[in-house]
Amino acid sequence: MSSAVTILMKPVEGFGVSKVVDSDNPNFKPGDLVSGFTGWEEYSLIRKTEQLRKIQPDDHIPLSYHIGLLGMPGFTAYAGFHEVCSPKSGEYVFVSAASGAVGQLVGQLAKLHGCYVVGSAGSSQKVDLLKNKLGFDEAFNYNDETDLVAALKRCFPQGIDIYFDNVGGEMLDAALLNMRDHGRIAVCGMVSLHSYHDPQGIHNLFTLVTKRITMKGFLQSDYLHLYPRFLDYVISNYKQGKIVYVEDMNEGLENAPAAFVGLFSGKNVGKQVVRVACE
Ligand SMILES: NC(=O)c1ccc[n+]([C@@H]2O[C@H](COP(=O)([O-])OP(=O)(O)OC[C@H]3O[C@@H](n4cnc5c(N)ncnc54)[C@H](OP(=O)(O)O)[C@@H]3O)[C@@H](O)[C@H]2O)c1
Repeated sequence: MSSAVTILMKPVEGFGVSKVVDSDNPNFKPGDLVSGFTGWEEYSLIRKTEQLRKIQPDDHIPLSYHIGLLGMPGFTAYAGFHEVCSPKSGEYVFVSAASGAVGQLVGQLAKLHGCYVVGSAGSSQKVDLLKNKLGFDEAFNYNDETDLVAALKRCFPQGIDIYFDNVGGEMLDAALLNMRDHGRIAVCGMVSLHSYHDPQGIHNLFTLVTKRITMKGFLQSDYLHLYPRFLDYVISNYKQGKIVYVEDMNEGLENAPAAFVGLFSGKNVGKQVVRVACE
């Protein structure tokens, strides 16, 4: 068998919530619930147990939240907003891909911090969600806009202090022209560029100089020492009803490939989850 075929026969991996069936590691016993990297399959053999986090079951928190709100995407929002953006109460915050797994929490963290928050998303349904469920002050559908610079000017007549960038590309270029002096741009991801082999460059980087803007890329994994603080903060606010989380639940492993591909055309509304088995 060639090595190429061997690779194809391995399951795709991703974050999941699992129940331990059996373990020769004394830290885990049958029945324990864990979250961490696992295969897209019904039963997985997990050797890298150091990356697993034990879940304390809580009737008020759905298990799936441990891969969303309380998992890697939620932590990305927390670390990116609080550690990279240096937010101050009263500042003007813009979030792209705002209804996604990361963006929806960034907006809510910014609101809890006393900021004014605008989100962009790819459909009117998502715009409605941002304004009426997730508490954003304003939102717009970028697919309806012919001029993104003008759209941001309309939403932020006074300019943007913080741009939490999930998409890169044209939206980043437009945001650069709308930033205020000493603004911060947290570069979380560039999902708009994933389908291009030869993505176009950004044109407006000189504004970094004239407006003394700080633009910083980050990986959530560099901030893992903050995870306990993140969990305390988000769980406490969730239980007080100050944070909500929207999931897009697909049933069955057979629907996982389509759900994954859908992320790159905005088919998901909220955090995409695939339920492989019920409790
Ligand atoms: N730095 C880190 O440590 C870290 C960790 C996790 C994730 N990330 C990054 O964070 C970003 C958001 O991740 P996520 O998990 O929140 O996303 P998600 O829930 O997977 O949703 C992706 C969303 O991106 C939007 N999108 C897709 N193609 C687009 C395009 N061509 N132009 C503009 N928007 C597009 C779609 O929403 P619309 O319909 O609104 O367009 C889609 O629903 C991604 O770039 C991801 O790579 C970074």
